Amino acid sequence: QKFGPIYSEKLGNVESVYILDPEDAELLFLREGPYPERYILPPWLAYHQYYQRPIGILFKNSEAWKKDRLVLNQEVMSRDAINNFMPLIEGVAHDFIKVLHRRIKEQNSGKFSGDISGDLFRFSFEAVTNVMFGERLGMLEEIVDPESQRFIDAVYQMFHTSVPMLTLPPELFRFFRTKIWKDHAAAWDVIFDKADEYTQNFYWDLRHKKDFNQYPGVLYSLLRGNKMSFKNIQANITELLAGGVDTTSMTLLWNFYEMAHNLKVQEMLRAEVLAARRQAQGDMVKMMQLVPLLKASIKETLRLHP
Ligand code: HEM
Repeated sequence: QKFGPIYSEKLGNVESVYILDPEDAELLFLREGPYPERYILPPWLAYHQYYQRPIGILFKNSEAWKKDRLVLNQEVMSRDAINNFMPLIEGVAHDFIKVLHRRIKEQNSGKFSGDISGDLFRFSFEAVTNVMFGERLGMLEEIVDPESQRFIDAVYQMFHTSVPMLTLPPELFRFFRTKIWKDHAAAWDVIFDKADEYTQNFYWDLRHKKDFNQYPGVLYSLLRGNKMSFKNIQANITELLAGGVDTTSMTLLWNFYEMAHNLKVQEMLRAEVLAARRQAQGDMVKMMQLVPLLKASIKETLRLHP
């Protein structure tokens, strides 16, 4: 009552202060200065420190974070970068729609009802790997590479095993050799091993290929830019791969759920997307500017299911 919409809460050994007013959040970000203070999940930090894993922007702070972040802003977040990789995402999105049609056909009733999360995880993974390496891994085919599926499962496992370790210092879970710590560390091990393998293979291919007829992906731009060491690029690619699977697929899953409960909004979205497609005539960048309701529905989904 005294300070307005703000409260603190202690969950396990983590004490947090929550602000609820968007204007307070804006003020906080404005006052933060050039280097943001981020909350890193303790089990992730414990794993990286104990096994001395290389870190990228997710774990870095201050100048080291800023230095990497400026390079990645250019290669991943800038308008030019987005325009470059938009066609790569578009191809994956078309194949995902084909998967949905396949699922409908399989059920022989003209509709689909069931768990779509596995397909969504594979869609996100196929999209993020295509953006990183400019190569398709075939995860939307009927039969998929079990090794790539292992990476997807490991990212899920890594998030899943983080939650129970938020109640006590993660070192305790490690010291007593608990199953949850072992599962968590094993998941990270797979993430690092597979991500290293993907980047090494790409690097090897690159030395044997000379021309590209399309944008060859973020990893290529980072290598060509020569602004980061190979080891640092690998660490950042690992984080981008690990960060780009469950986040987008879970958001889409919740969006589908919300749309199933709001048929009117679903119809409006459908009309907006169809109109945008007609108007943009195949220009994806233009089409993205013509779907404000779609963007708002994703933001609302994230607000409801952060
Ligand atoms: C709906 C989708 C997504 C959600 C909800 C989400 C959520 C978040 C959150 C909450 C943070 C922490 C921000 C902070 O501490 O200030 C973060 C950081 C990060 N995310 Fe995502 N993310 C999403 C998609 C992605 C994708 C697609 C990628 C990679 C392709 C990615 C890679 C990263 C990386 C590398 C960081 C660290 C950034 C930094 O510290 O500068 N995320 N994300």
